[in-house]
Amino acid sequence: MRYIAFEGVDGAGKTTVAGRVADALRHDGFDVVMVREPGGTPIGEAVRQILLEAGESMVPRTEALLFAAARTQLAAEVIEPALAHGSFVLSDRTVYSSLAYQGGGRNLGVESVREPNVWGLGKVWPELVIWLDVDPETGLSREDGADRISNEGPALMQAVAGAYRALSESEPERIHRIDAGQDLDRVVADCLAVIEAAS
Ligand code: TYD
Repeated sequence: MRYIAFEGVDGAGKTTVAGRVADALRHDGFDVVMVREPGGTPIGEAVRQILLEAGESMVPRTEALLFAAARTQLAAEVIEPALAHGSFVLSDRTVYSSLAYQGGGRNLGVESVREPNVWGLGKVWPELVIWLDVDPETGLSREDGADRISNEGPALMQAVAGAYRALSESEPERIHRIDAGQDLDRVVADCLAVIEAAS
């Protein structure tokens, strides 16, 4: 399984952990491509600006569709070619963020949000999802640069955390929970063990 997602509420440590996991895989001789969502392509970065800086007038469905659009571009331009080349793709957030934030957090419904993503992504779907589970309050207190979405605070983040939990229960083979309250070395070791067991 080579397309690996790092997921969790804001401040769960995805970026740091994904970087450490990439270092370890490269050290073992694997080719690793790292991407982040929203973003990762010129079009995706432009959409990211709109998403993170838009005013309050953006309605939840527009938000969901823009995330899906940025992701569709990333899948076609970067992820699919990297997987075809045999690389690992480690992604800081994926479609599972949309399912948790827009589906759960914004109350659009997980299955409704899944639809445009299935259409956009086709078979380029994360094979393994590492859910870095941390108490949302702890996550928010770790955040430095806040954006429009993380600015909304504890109520949204509690709903997002609940959505990740429900997703992990409905897709237990794909989604693996890791306790992100542990120290960093332990979290990284747990991630590597999950990746190894899945490959
Ligand atoms: P980012 O700066 O990447 O936050 P973090 O480092 O915490 O991941 O900003 C991404 C924000 O966008 C974050 O609050 C999560 C949110 N988001 C969604 O709501 N839906 C999505 O599909 C994605 C990819 C991100």
